[in-house]
Amino acid sequence: MATRHLLPLPLLPIPLVYKTLLRFPSKPLAPHPRTLCSSAASSSSYSSMASIPKKVLVPIANGTEPMEAVITIDVLRRAGADVTVASAEKDLRVDACWGVKLVADALVADVATASFDLISLPGGIPGSDTLRDCGVLESIVKKQAEKGGLYAAICAAPAVALGSWGLLKGLKATCYPSFMDKLPSDATAVESRVQVEGQVVTSRGPGTAMEYSLALVEKLYGKDKADEVAGPMVMRPHHGVDFAMTEINSTSWKFDSTPQILVPIANGSEEMEAVMIIDTLRRAKANVVVASVEDKLEIVASRKVKLIADMLLDEAIKLQYDLIVLPGGLPGAQAFSNSEKLVNLLRKQAESSKLYGAICASPAIVLETHGLLKGKKATAYPAMCDKLSDQSYCENRVVVDGNLITSRGPGTSLEFALAIVEKLLGRQKSLDLAKSMVFV
Ligand SMILES: *[C@@H]1O[C@H](CO)[C@@H](O)[C@H](O)[C@H]1NC(C)=O
Ligand SMILES: *[C@@H]1O[C@H](CO)[C@@H](O)[C@H](O)[C@H]1NC(C)=O
Ligand SMILES: *[C@@H]1O[C@H](CO)[C@@H](O)[C@H](O)[C@H]1NC(C)=O
Repeated sequence: MATRHLLPLPLLPIPLVYKTLLRFPSKPLAPHPRTLCSSAASSSSYSSMASIPKKVLVPIANGTEPMEAVITIDVLRRAGADVTVASAEKDLRVDACWGVKLVADALVADVATASFDLISLPGGIPGSDTLRDCGVLESIVKKQAEKGGLYAAICAAPAVALGSWGLLKGLKATCYPSFMDKLPSDATAVESRVQVEGQVVTSRGPGTAMEYSLALVEKLYGKDKADEVAGPMVMRPHHGVDFAMTEINSTSWKFDSTPQILVPIANGSEEMEAVMIIDTLRRAKANVVVASVEDKLEIVASRKVKLIADMLLDEAIKLQYDLIVLPGGLPGAQAFSNSEKLVNLLRKQAESSKLYGAICASPAIVLETHGLLKGKKATAYPAMCDKLSDQSYCENRVVVDGNLITSRGPGTSLEFALAIVEKLLGRQKSLDLAKSMVFV
């Protein structure tokens, strides 16, 4: 069948080992009592022996754009930063946009006197308004600016928060396209995807969050570190509208009704991947059920972001799904593979020619292990390709074979989610969505 392959195969560095995922725990200032004796707490003393990690504050609120928050937290923790996720609400529990539920490490009030190497504000409405109106946060960021410290914002937040606080004065800044005219008149509005101006970094939207986060890593640690972090994420080679999907055996995925989609999550799931998939599919108006494979709704993802599922898998398996999508991450993928209920559900899905998909570690650890890639072409995380019995398509970023879709890693997650949207709802819908997220 025709292969739509619009990009040359990217020659990306392939790491020798799948990076151990628990290396860079955050050290929350006000930990939940139950995390005090966890491995996260004990291994953080290990990292502090090596060097004092850079301290980063990422405030969040109800209506924060979850991709922008979670990608920044995840990427900075990959670089070794000690990131505190602080809620500007009354509780640690925050309802981000698109029904994504996050649990912060601390309240903003708890970090009022702490000092940071970087403060990064995610966008989203009304999240950005809440951040702007949070007096404690305003004074923390103003203090940061006065001491010449690094501060940054993405999407609506440069205009809504930094601009309102007078912290973009005389600088070039960018923000979400529809907020450009809300940038203050004392700043110069520019349309760059990421604008670095001395100690101030601004960016445009969910689709620029990875580049933005890598720019922050570069400001904190230098270019070599940014390259080291970027390599294993399988970043996009460029930003055109020609994002890639390789189709073998093209079948129709079209639905007349709202597609019902299951996204399982477990401790050690890759949070960036989970959130990019959930967020994008909900933007496309699919009905997405996020189900915890653990015995609690709250899971701790691979870079210690705490996510709350909509229901437990036991409940979720009572429903019917047009598509089941597995995010990657370790040990999350292993938890999927060990879940008899999830594996049975996937098996039934495959046997009845219904849709299923996986990204990163999950194609190899879950699907291959249980014979669910038999006779299919698939891709996976670069360092896991040797676990696939058929590796002929493993260099491709997104592969569709009949009712199966697979992809490679954090840097291909949006292409993966947009390919799903394209298959379900058409190319125009996926392009419109890509534009609205400032992905293209
Ligand atoms: C923010 O979301 C939390 C969690 O759902 C909720 O308890 C709280 O009331 C919300 N806060 C506001 C100001 O709406
Ligand atoms: C998953 O993480 C939560 C929170 O740390 C913990 O309470 C739970 O025991 C973990 N589950 C497993 C199976 O390790
Ligand atoms: C194409 O995929 C469909 C759905 O998975 C499957 O039923 C069919 O057998 C496949 N055809 C070929 C030629 O592999």
